Amino acid sequence: MLDSGKIREDFPILSKKVYGKPLVWLDNAATSQKPRSVIQSLVDYYEGYNANVHRGVHALSIESTDAFELARQKVADFIHADAAESIVWTRNTTEAINLVANTWARDNIGAGDEILLTPMEHHSNLVPWQKVAQENGARLKFIPMHEDGTLDLENIDAIFGPRTKLLAIVHVSNSMGTINPVKELAARAHAVGAMVLVDGAQSVPHMPVDVNDLDCDFLAFSGHKMLGPTGIGVLYAKRDVLEEMDPFLRGGEMVLEVWYDRATWNALPMRFEAGTPNIADAIGLGAAVDYLQALGMENVRQHEVELTGYGLKRFEELDEVVVYGPQNPDVRGGAILFNAADIHPHDLGTIMDRQGIAIRTGHHCTMPLMRTLGVAATARASFYVYNTTQEVDTLVDGLKEALEYFAHEVRGA
Ligand SMILES: Cc1ncc(COP(=O)(O)O)c(C=O)c1O
Repeated sequence: MLDSGKIREDFPILSKKVYGKPLVWLDNAATSQKPRSVIQSLVDYYEGYNANVHRGVHALSIESTDAFELARQKVADFIHADAAESIVWTRNTTEAINLVANTWARDNIGAGDEILLTPMEHHSNLVPWQKVAQENGARLKFIPMHEDGTLDLENIDAIFGPRTKLLAIVHVSNSMGTINPVKELAARAHAVGAMVLVDGAQSVPHMPVDVNDLDCDFLAFSGHKMLGPTGIGVLYAKRDVLEEMDPFLRGGEMVLEVWYDRATWNALPMRFEAGTPNIADAIGLGAAVDYLQALGMENVRQHEVELTGYGLKRFEELDEVVVYGPQNPDVRGGAILFNAADIHPHDLGTIMDRQGIAIRTGHHCTMPLMRTLGVAATARASFYVYNTTQEVDTLVDGLKEALEYFAHEVRGA
């Protein structure tokens, strides 16, 4: 396992106390905490070389442009993209997916075509496709799912067909932790001439991801879930695909030449980055990538497998607690989704909060999935590099106390 004790020293917020108790941050699927090196990279930028990029001939502009483009290269290397031109900065995963929906999909998906999704998509990888389907007369189709939260691929030949134009799939479910067989499904999609968009919001931060190995056409992810700042995200797209796409937003930076009545487009990837970009946070994301690379993504993944395995085992001690999703930690990510007896998840979350434990409660931006699971809401504990087995113990012990309190004080058992 990673030396999380040592890693924790790099994260100033982790020494914080909440209601007098040490903070136990188990809401990593929502957003991760930031190491000092990332925070410092923002301070360095604003104190040392704040300037707009790609525009100036002066020293600071050259310095900021170099740092900004170096961060792009770091991100490209991190996901094994062939070229930095394939990396388009966005605000987050949501914006990256909307970019594809409003450009490639709008122009290439027509009446009667099918957009293939899974029942576990985050709203960010569902709602944009609803708009495309409504406007272009296409149909949303969902791959069936087993009760344990894995995809049912028994009738895979019936799932993909000549009308399939896009497979838009979450790599790792933010709710149940399911790791989907994206590589195999991408090959199937390509065999029928469909394109593949992978929502990597929960995979890129947590495991090695190689876009060439997956052979996805698009990959979307967010900096803030991988130790980076908020407000910066990434759309990876194959170069030839990007070349063919119309710009999303229009204005400065994305143009080559402009007349009063028309304009031509800048080279990749600037064609998709209208206006002044989020320079500081892109540089901050580069620093986050450095941090993760130094840990090693194989080690990051292994740490989470062990922590999740430990967590799932300890959850077995909890009577009346239902855990959703696949049970084998080797085939799932580091999020444990659960409900405890008849205690409302919000009540549970509030009780945990009083003990300094931050878990997520609600629908986790997967409302249709909650309906499929037959629940209105659930609780979720999600892990990252700085979490320890002691923290899992604190969570499980806290849950035990909460269950006892409800059994005796509320239900009078
Ligand atoms: C699987 C998945 N997709 C998409 C998103 C959206 O990410 P963002 O809010 O950073 O755009 C999230 C965030 O929770 C997620 O977990």
